[in-house]
Formats: sequence, structure tokens, C-alpha cells
Amino acid sequence: MAIRNNHQKSRGLWNTRFGFILAASGSAVGLGNIWKFPYIVGQNGGGAFVLIYILCTIVVGLPIMLAEFTIGRKTSLNPVGAFQSLKPKSHWVKIGYMGVLAGFFILSFYAVVGGWTLAYVVKAFTHTMSNFSSPKEAGQFFGSFIANTWEVLFYHALFMAICVGIVLRGIHGGIEKACKVLMPTLVIILIFLMFRALTLPGAMEGIEFYLKPDFSKIGPQTILIALGQAFFSLSLGMGCMLTYGSYLPEQENLTSATVYVVIFDTIIALLVGMVIFPAVFAMGLEPTEGPSLVFSVLPAVFVGMPFGNLVSIVFFTLLAIAAITSGISLLEVVVAYFIDQRKWDRKKAVLVTSVTIFAFGVPSGLSFGVLSEAKLFDMNFFDHVDNIASNYLLPLGGMLTAIFVGWVWGTKSAEEEIEKHETKFHWGHVWGFLIRYISPVAVFLVFFAKFV
Ligand code: TRP
Repeated sequence: MAIRNNHQKSRGLWNTRFGFILAASGSAVGLGNIWKFPYIVGQNGGGAFVLIYILCTIVVGLPIMLAEFTIGRKTSLNPVGAFQSLKPKSHWVKIGYMGVLAGFFILSFYAVVGGWTLAYVVKAFTHTMSNFSSPKEAGQFFGSFIANTWEVLFYHALFMAICVGIVLRGIHGGIEKACKVLMPTLVIILIFLMFRALTLPGAMEGIEFYLKPDFSKIGPQTILIALGQAFFSLSLGMGCMLTYGSYLPEQENLTSATVYVVIFDTIIALLVGMVIFPAVFAMGLEPTEGPSLVFSVLPAVFVGMPFGNLVSIVFFTLLAIAAITSGISLLEVVVAYFIDQRKWDRKKAVLVTSVTIFAFGVPSGLSFGVLSEAKLFDMNFFDHVDNIASNYLLPLGGMLTAIFVGWVWGTKSAEEEIEKHETKFHWGHVWGFLIRYISPVAVFLVFFAKFV
């Protein structure tokens, strides 16, 4: 016990349960909720997709998140160290390495988009975007911005620097403190935006599209997209939640924390829809635009609405905050590996990894400008890194984590950890069933659907 406590103290611990829940929610709520979710809903027929997404979150996402938290708290280690300590020298340790690698890859392009959000906050402040006459014009503006080498690199570096500034200060003093300020700010901003959007004339049409399920638009492909999105949005499959769980003291209740984080992430995604669809429909535009929905349709939407410039500043600040609290969680996974396994001090780990991740991200940043012609199989560098990490490493990692907990380490050992300090785990058998049978099979289907 004493050894464990000393080890834990030297790595850092969350100060309060609430702080941990905010930090984990901060990791989950990110570009996935605000940038990706609305355009995916827009492309996949609205309400019916939302229902399927919620189902995937509960049936697959929730059990895997609890599994990650449990491994993390049990071992108090980074993903590599955690699998190493539960099954020493086995092939399962590779799940941990895959996770750290995925964290490295995801942050390298996530920070590029994070940089775009910072740039848009500045552009909104300086009224650079207040005279678009059509979404087409806003789209051209976005296109020429992301092609501008120096501007993109500057904001990309700025985003990394902000993450570094936070992660350098450690778990309690850095990540927890930052999330305690940023997450409530995010919620307040979102409520403000929702009021603005819902009081626009014509808003109801958007709400109808968003909430009225039309099952004719649902096919097998839709389910796969929903499951992939649930994974990414909940930060699962690469040991991110595992790492955050490793800073938890023993007496915390893991099941209720999992439920809070999942509910929070889902509610935020749903509320973002309540902002974007009413606004898009009220301005007579289409929500089927795809990835450029947030960066090129919304600025045009804001121009046409009362207090549009303020709304624009506030919206992109929301996007930037969400990206930062997720970026730090990705960086922390890589940093924790070097601290625990390589015995580096935090400062060295943060500086070396972040500079390397930034350097690796540069070709992603330039993928829409000078490197836009550098394509392999019709995808640029950015697309490739995103594809390898999000479509291969994450689902594979999630599926193997579920199999590991369900069949190798065993649900019994996991439940023992969950029930420590007399914590009741009422739905233990349901969870055991989901993690052994449902989650691995569901992820397997998503994964192999890519090949057929
Ligand atoms: N969940 C975040 C989002 O929605 C992104 C993210 C952070 C992530 N950490 C992760 C995704 C780990 C997958 C794995 O934007």
C-alpha cells in the first residue's frame, strides 16, 4: 500500500473526483463533438442517425470506457506499463504501444485543426469574416487560409504551445486546473449559443430535421459510421482514458464516473446540434456540406444574424477550448509513457515529445497548401495519418482492450478492482456480458467493414 501511494504521488493524482470527471469529459468533448458530429448527422439523415449513435455510445462505448478506467486505476501506469504489469512480456503489451503511437499520430493532425480554431477566434475578433455574402465566399476564404503555409504553421505551433504549457504543470496543477476553468466556460458558451440559435426565425425547421427520425436513410454503413464516431468522441481505443484513470486514488467510484463522462460527452454533442441545425436552416442553407460545415458554412450563417460577429467569436472560442482540453489528453498519454517506462522527468518528456509531434504534424498542416499535390492513393498526408490512427489503430485498440479485459485479465479481476472500498457494482453481470461479447464483435464488424 505504502509503495503504491508513493509511486502514485510521484506521478501525480487528481485532486478531486469532480476535477477528474471534468478532465475526462474535457478529453472526450472535442472537435469530434463540435466539428465532426454535426456534419456527420447532416450527411446521414438527422434524427435516426442520432438515435443509433446514442445506442452505440451506451452499448459499446460505455463498457469500454469503464474497462479503460479500471486497467488504469489498477496499475497506476501508462498504457504500455499497464498491460506489461497485468500480463508481463506477453503480446498484449503491444496494445499499449499501439495506443501511445495512436496518441502521437492523432495529436499530430488534431493540433493542425486546433490551430485553425485559434486562427478563427483571431479572425472573428478582427472582423475579417464579417462580410461574406454566401457560404461559397466563406468557403473560399477558408480554403485560402488553410493553404497559407506560414499562417497555418504559426497557429499549429501556438496550439501545441498551449497544450505544452498545461501538461508541463502536471496532473493536478496543470490538466485538472485548466479543465476546471475551461469546461464550465464551454458549457456557458454553449447555452448562450443555443439561445441565440433557437430564437432565430425559422429555427424550428432545423430542430425538426435534427430530432425527427427518418429511418429510410439508415443502412449498415450508417451504423458503422455511428460506432466509429462514438469511439472517437469518447476518446476510446488508445489508452487515453486508461491513462487518466491511472491518476485516480483507490476510493473513487469508477462506474459512476464513467456514466457521468459518457452522459456529459453525449449531451454536449446533442446540444451542439441544437445550435448548428437551427442556425443553418434559419439562414436557408443545407446541413449536408460535410467537413467544411463548421469552418465555411457557419461563418456565412453568422454574417446574416443579429449580433453575428459576437456569436462568431464565441463559437470559435468554444471550438478552441474543446480542442485544447482534448489535445492535452492526447499529449499526456505519450508523456506518461516516457515518464513511467523511460524514467524521464516530466519537463523533458513534455518538451521532447511535443516538439517531435509538432514536427511530424507539419506535413499534415501543409497538406492543404504546398503539399496538396503530394498524394498517395488519392489521399494527402493529413488524410493518411488520420486514416491510420482513427480507422485502424483506434478500433483495433478498442477491440483488443475489450478482449483483454473480458477474456485474458478477466472480468472477475476487473470487478474486484471496481468493487474496491465496498463500492457496489450492481450492473456487473451486464457489463461483463457487454465487454466479453457485444463490444468486441461490434468493433470487429466496424473494422472489417472497411475491407468489404
Ligand atoms: N474525443 C476527442 C474529440 O471528440 C478527441 C480525442 C482525445 C481522442 N483523445 C482521444 C480520440 C483519444 C480518440 C482517442 O474530439
